[in-house]
Amino acid sequence: MADSLSLVVLISGRGSNLGSLIAACTSGQINGRITHVISNVPTAGGLALAEDAGIPTSVVDHTRFESREAFDQTLNATIRKKPTDIVVLAGFMRILTEQFVRSWQPRMINIHPSLLPLYPGLNTHQRAIDNGDAHAGASVHFVTPQLDGGPVIVQSRVDIEANDTAVTLARRVLTGEHVIFTLALEWICSGRVVCHNNSVMLDGNPIRTPPCIYREQLLPDGIDHG
Ligand code: GRF
Repeated sequence: MADSLSLVVLISGRGSNLGSLIAACTSGQINGRITHVISNVPTAGGLALAEDAGIPTSVVDHTRFESREAFDQTLNATIRKKPTDIVVLAGFMRILTEQFVRSWQPRMINIHPSLLPLYPGLNTHQRAIDNGDAHAGASVHFVTPQLDGGPVIVQSRVDIEANDTAVTLARRVLTGEHVIFTLALEWICSGRVVCHNNSVMLDGNPIRTPPCIYREQLLPDGIDHG
């Protein structure tokens, strides 16, 4: 088996996605090691999850910086204190500067709670409900300078129920987030997924329509076997 990759995870909140990634690295599903967890919020619940798992943590508090550029420079220096293969944005609620993104492209991934390209940005679940959509979901994508606009690796999808609120919908979508984030990192760390010329390649084939997990079943029919 190839050497395990070194993952740095950036968070801003409770860290449930981080928790699922820690479990998958521990079980061996992901051939990777989370070497550092960094939060921009000193009170983020995910910091305790990391500490309980023996993972070093840092806080780079964005409120202490005068500009986005200054924050990003310190954040990048903090990441680069340790050898890092992949930067993982797991509920990291800061917009990153183009310079920062380019310095990691294509080695940075993000989870976003919508079926991209629908609803980049905030309040995704309320926007899907207000639009009368039948489905909502989540996407894992490589990060490019365009906000939530990078190539998608895998998605998960749930039905929107008639009585759903943004809170109930977010809860169901989150279950799928944990599955697809783990799967995307499993694929990246085993070398099955790479980003080449801004396209996602799975097993050497370009993904045109990202694979989608519905009711936790992987539907492979979105994969172009070329
Ligand atoms: C997730 O819904 C993620 O998609 C969004 O922020 C939330 C983070 O949740 N960007 P957690 O901190 O991983 O529990």
